[in-house]
Amino acid sequence: MTGPVLAVDQGTSGTKALVICPERGVIGSARSPVRPRHLPDGRVEVDPEELLGSVVDAGRRAVAAAGEPIAAVGLSNQGETVLAWDPATGTPLTDAVVWQDRRAAGICSELAPHADRLRELTGLPLDPYFAAPKMAWIRRHLTREGVVTTSDAWLVHRLTGEFVTDAATAGRTQLLDLDRVAWSPEALETYGLSGERLPRVVDAAGPVGGTRAFGPDVPLTGLLVDQQAALLAQGAVEPGAAKCTYGTGAFLLAQTGDRPRRGGSGLVSCVAWRLAGRASYCLDGQVYTAASAVRWLTDLGVIGGAADLDRVGATVPDAGGVTFVPALAGLAAPWWRGDARGSVTGLGLDTTAGHLVRALCEGIAAQVVELAAAAGADLGAPLTSLRVDGGLTRSALLMQTQADLLRLPVEVAESPDATALGAGALARLGLDPRLPLREAVPRWRPSAVYEPRLGADRAAERMAAFRAAVDALPERAP
Ligand code: G3P
Repeated sequence: MTGPVLAVDQGTSGTKALVICPERGVIGSARSPVRPRHLPDGRVEVDPEELLGSVVDAGRRAVAAAGEPIAAVGLSNQGETVLAWDPATGTPLTDAVVWQDRRAAGICSELAPHADRLRELTGLPLDPYFAAPKMAWIRRHLTREGVVTTSDAWLVHRLTGEFVTDAATAGRTQLLDLDRVAWSPEALETYGLSGERLPRVVDAAGPVGGTRAFGPDVPLTGLLVDQQAALLAQGAVEPGAAKCTYGTGAFLLAQTGDRPRRGGSGLVSCVAWRLAGRASYCLDGQVYTAASAVRWLTDLGVIGGAADLDRVGATVPDAGGVTFVPALAGLAAPWWRGDARGSVTGLGLDTTAGHLVRALCEGIAAQVVELAAAAGADLGAPLTSLRVDGGLTRSALLMQTQADLLRLPVEVAESPDATALGAGALARLGLDPRLPLREAVPRWRPSAVYEPRLGADRAAERMAAFRAAVDALPERAP
């Protein structure tokens, strides 16, 4: 038996840290916010030092709250956020370009003739969401100095001095050969990134290096991109098991086993994790704005924050004919319309904040319905329920709306912090490789199950209204 581990989930809007004891569960926790800058032209940036500062701050406070020494650290990361940095000093050479940033759309348009080949090689469609277009943009427009990597490689370097990335994060770049789980010289050449020094691709569990960032020297033994960490924590280790995490964005992932499944429904095919040299794969669908759409409504003054969704939504019985497509950073799978702008239609003088809140919940939930349908089509069997986690699962309104539109039970994980729990499980596994995967993963228990309550006709009507609104979405002006 090993001691407690520190699990750190470095996300878009903040870092969550948990100290997890194998016998007693979570014995310390802390959160440190991060404030990405939302700039004109779909640009989203964050100061990399703010990311590192939040990791160290949340990690130290969680360890202090636990009051016990930790045996190892696990880290999950945002995936497609990139920066250039000096590998000799660890100093950032650019701001971090956040995964939601659309600035590399032009590079994707230029590479359109290579789209099919890139998808075949890497499992990913051409979209500025992924890391490689942003890396190419940084090389073209900001600097040719240093290395250009996803944020995890930089954070790990600052924490341990090592230069690594895990196989699943590498798989979010569009530079990784999906079948070989190794950097693809062909994809690198297509992006004009052939000469780049890239991090070594490592397993999700295993010793990476030591860190003194959180107190006495301890090994970093778990490393995985955040959505896949949540998939693991949700116990989705068998093919067909799926989860959706409602964070800054919402992400539905379905496990496909030891072979990538390249379906025709528009989902991403990618590495779930690599353990002891063996990769397992998943399908992945994305809603680019979930909590960030709630934040947008908050910034406009319509609600006081995410905690207000249920109270304000309860002031009206339904969305009052309002349809909200929250494509505030474009639309991802299954549409891949990066240039789309969001829309709110059906407004009247009688429209209230409550209607807008309900329409937003429907807009997020309807996208997840489309992703679940795509996953079912690619898996060859429809999903029978959906396990969910993430901060927005605290909204009963959103969860009920999800069950209503999905027409399936929605099972809310006991802890909204599934991502951190996944990172913690990997840290334990990295300390003790003989531990069976199922034992490392926390036992899965729902804290609530939402059953569909809306009639099938009414749900179909709402989905039809949403689909019509998607078809009518305006594009970003060139
Ligand atoms: O792909 C980006 C995503 O993984 C970020 O997750 O939790 O910050 O919404 P989150």
